[in-house]
Amino acid sequence: MGRLILKGIFKKFNDFLALENVNFDVAEGEFVCLLGPSGCGKTTILRLAAGLDSPNSGEIFLDGKKIVGTNKECGFVFQEYALFPWRTAKGNIEFGPQVKGCRKEDCEKISRHYIDLVGLRGFENHFPHELSGGMKQRVGIARAYANKPKLLLMDEPFGALDAQTRNIMQAELLRIWEKEHISVLFVTHSVDEAVYLADRVVVMSARPGTVKEIFDIKLPRPRVRTSPEANTLRDLILKSLGSEIKRAAEIRK
Ligand SMILES: Nc1ncnc2c1ncn2[C@@H]1O[C@H](COP(=O)(O)OP(=O)(O)OP(=O)(O)O)[C@@H](O)[C@H]1O
Ligand SMILES: [Mg+2]
Repeated sequence: MGRLILKGIFKKFNDFLALENVNFDVAEGEFVCLLGPSGCGKTTILRLAAGLDSPNSGEIFLDGKKIVGTNKECGFVFQEYALFPWRTAKGNIEFGPQVKGCRKEDCEKISRHYIDLVGLRGFENHFPHELSGGMKQRVGIARAYANKPKLLLMDEPFGALDAQTRNIMQAELLRIWEKEHISVLFVTHSVDEAVYLADRVVVMSARPGTVKEIFDIKLPRPRVRTSPEANTLRDLILKSLGSEIKRAAEIRK
């Protein structure tokens, strides 16, 4: 479950062509990272997959069903935490199950499970302003997981974290992903992060965004960030991405 297919996607904002013929897929249980220059349409792709916006042409399927309107089968984790400030950590995580009409005991069982999974036991009753950046991000991830999505869409979720917390969060995310067997589409600006996390890396071109190249990352997990194989892949991806970042800068001139 959780197979996402993007087929011939074009997206315009007024006269501005943001996405041009985007085609790729995320297989069941696969972890795919999306890389590309700023403004190439990565967030737009996530929004389309979540059904928050619709393409001008092309189709998106999740498990064979065409996405029209908000896609309730995916979870979204934003860069800017986007937690409800008036709800505690537990209250944030229980939000989805509550909206679905789960009984109180079931909501509590779900939130306990995910609080443990993301290592937030003892902080259940803290409000977002009482939590660190890394903790807030973990609440965001737990909240997305608590909805039992088939597909997790993550938009630079660790971009605001310091390097050490980011490394810890990446390892935790992989641990949860391996346990829950969910498909993940993860946007990042970091080639290092993509090579550490992904089964496949999709590199996008400068605007209008389209898929430039797809890299298979067949390194065994847990991965060693500095292994020669990881370094080789990182260099290849950097080269592909680097030329697009340069092109994006020229387009802006
Ligand atoms: N609602 C909107 N209205 C008009 N233009 C938009 C809208 N949303 C996105 N765009 C434009 O579409 C392009 C792609 O935006 P998007 O946010 O998807 O880029 P991105 O790849 O996520 O960039 P970044 O890496 O900086 O987050 C940009 O040029 C942006 O200005
Ligand atoms: Mg973005």
